[in-house]
Amino acid sequence: MRDGIPRFVPEDNYGKSFGYQWNLHRLTQLDSYVGLPVSRDRLLRESGWTTDELEGREVLECGSGAGRFTEVLCQTGAAVTSFDISNAVEANATSNGRFAGLRLLQASIYDLPLMDESFDYLVCLGVIQHTPDVERAFKTIFRYLRPGGKFCIDVYAAIVAYPHLRQLLRPVTKRIPPGKLYGVVQSITPRLLPVSTRLSAVPWVGDYLTRLVPVANHRHLGLSDTETVRTWSVLDTFDWLSPQFERPQPRRRLERWCRDLRLSEFEIERIRGLYVVRGTK
Ligand SMILES: C[S@@+](CC[C@H](N)C(=O)[O-])C[C@H]1O[C@@H](n2cnc3c(N)ncnc32)[C@H](O)[C@@H]1O
Repeated sequence: MRDGIPRFVPEDNYGKSFGYQWNLHRLTQLDSYVGLPVSRDRLLRESGWTTDELEGREVLECGSGAGRFTEVLCQTGAAVTSFDISNAVEANATSNGRFAGLRLLQASIYDLPLMDESFDYLVCLGVIQHTPDVERAFKTIFRYLRPGGKFCIDVYAAIVAYPHLRQLLRPVTKRIPPGKLYGVVQSITPRLLPVSTRLSAVPWVGDYLTRLVPVANHRHLGLSDTETVRTWSVLDTFDWLSPQFERPQPRRRLERWCRDLRLSEFEIERIRGLYVVRGTK
């Protein structure tokens, strides 16, 4: 236990760059800070759930980062257990610690101090492609969901994430210390972002052309002003270039894992660069 948060992983683990980014950008992606329901809309769109059905339910959130989805989940009145391998849990505690229904842990998906089949809902967004063994991460989290419980997991889609210039840069950038890499990203992003936006406007092939520019571009989110767009862009470009692991997945493999788990129902939908896997255990 440190700063009121139970810790079940060594401080020095592969999630360090995430701890760095989320403590630096503690508020950037929180709906309450942005003033727009970006995270709320994404969570509800991906899961197909309503806020009413979550009220009073036991929800497990895996890999919570700074807590953009923790905030949305807590606002529904759910009892939320949320964990992350990195010290991003500290940022989450500062932002969301006011919710009485929130229990936060610093722990790894692979080794959780939780009871099997003790949750009604399972949420894991933007996480499992960043683990060293994606299949094991995917299959392990279902242990904690009760039979009949609902899940929503999203994963980078291989078809979108692999043909991207960042994949050529990552073998080098992931070895650069976070503080140094962040400085580089901060200085190049404002220059590359307008290039990416211009390319994205090219009819038919705009989406493909933007993959040649290694900068995250959130033009589709309707963020309110240029400064916000730039800040999100710096954060997510760092989030592309710094993680120790990035293992996007093909749809067929996700289908196979779902069949292996004998889920009572599941569906996989591609939403932009993500496969969303949702259903009932
Ligand atoms: C891209 S961030 C997404 C965070 C949050 N879900 C969001 O969408 O804002 C991925 C998160 O997964 C966490 N993570 C990676 N491997 C993990 C593991 N084995 N156990 C728990 N969390 C892990 C990282 O520390 C990081 O905060």
